Amino acid sequence: MTTLNLVLMGLPGAGKGTQAQKIVAEFHTVHISTGDIFRAAMKNGTKMGIEAKKFIDQGNLVPDSVTDGIVEDRLAEDDTNAGFMLDGYPRNLEQANALDKMTAKLNKPINAVINIHVDPEVLIERLSGRFICKNCGATYHKLYNPPKVEGTCDVCGHHEFYQRDDDKPETVKNRIEVNTKLNTPLIDFYNDKKLLYTVNGDQDIDDVYKEIQKVLRAI
Ligand code: AP5
Ligand code: MG
Repeated sequence: MTTLNLVLMGLPGAGKGTQAQKIVAEFHTVHISTGDIFRAAMKNGTKMGIEAKKFIDQGNLVPDSVTDGIVEDRLAEDDTNAGFMLDGYPRNLEQANALDKMTAKLNKPINAVINIHVDPEVLIERLSGRFICKNCGATYHKLYNPPKVEGTCDVCGHHEFYQRDDDKPETVKNRIEVNTKLNTPLIDFYNDKKLLYTVNGDQDIDDVYKEIQKVLRAI
């Protein structure tokens, strides 16, 4: 089987993290979420985390000079030799060009870009209803994806959950605006390279995954 080196793209709340959990469970590829890396650094109060927080709290992108370096270091690690999946990177053309250089240097070419398409009107409701397990990071939604037993994480059985700071309504609005503007050129970039597969993200979580499975099984 071909090594899967994937990019998962989609606007905030499109379902990148939700689908990533399923892809990892089936295809055992290494999940690299720049958002998760920044949140871990903020939680640990590292220098990079303190710097990133200024941008994330406003719903803006962390500068490419910081983000590109983090991804390059992560892709250079040996566990990605058997495949990786980038979630939330690249987000602009500069990052896409930087990624091209990194993957060429490391000889780990991207073989598919999965774009989860959702109309922007749906996203605010998705983000305002999201909550996350404090222990394992599993993501839920109060209406669309609640835990099977109320108040208990399906994955690890813990009972404490949190909402992300950047899911506040003011921040969400800017995140969606910033990313919408950058998304179209990125879609064109990967379409031109014949790497783009767009799936309909505005259907049940399992139906979105079925579309993704079809793409990945064909590679
Ligand atoms: P990041 O953490 O990547 O945030 P994001 O892109 O805004 O995306 P989200 O994680 O909010 O949404 P998601 O698509 O993963 O949706 P989820 O599956 O959780 O980045 C955070 C910040 O870090 C950025 O704003 C930026 O500042 C910085 N950053 C990150 N990468 C960067 C980069 N490359 N360059 C510069 N800065 C960067 O689903 C959302 C909710 O919907 C959940 O509640 C879920 O249960 C529910 N749901 C999912 N799918 C469905 C469905 N099909 N139907 C109904 N509900 C659904
Ligand atoms: Mg996410």
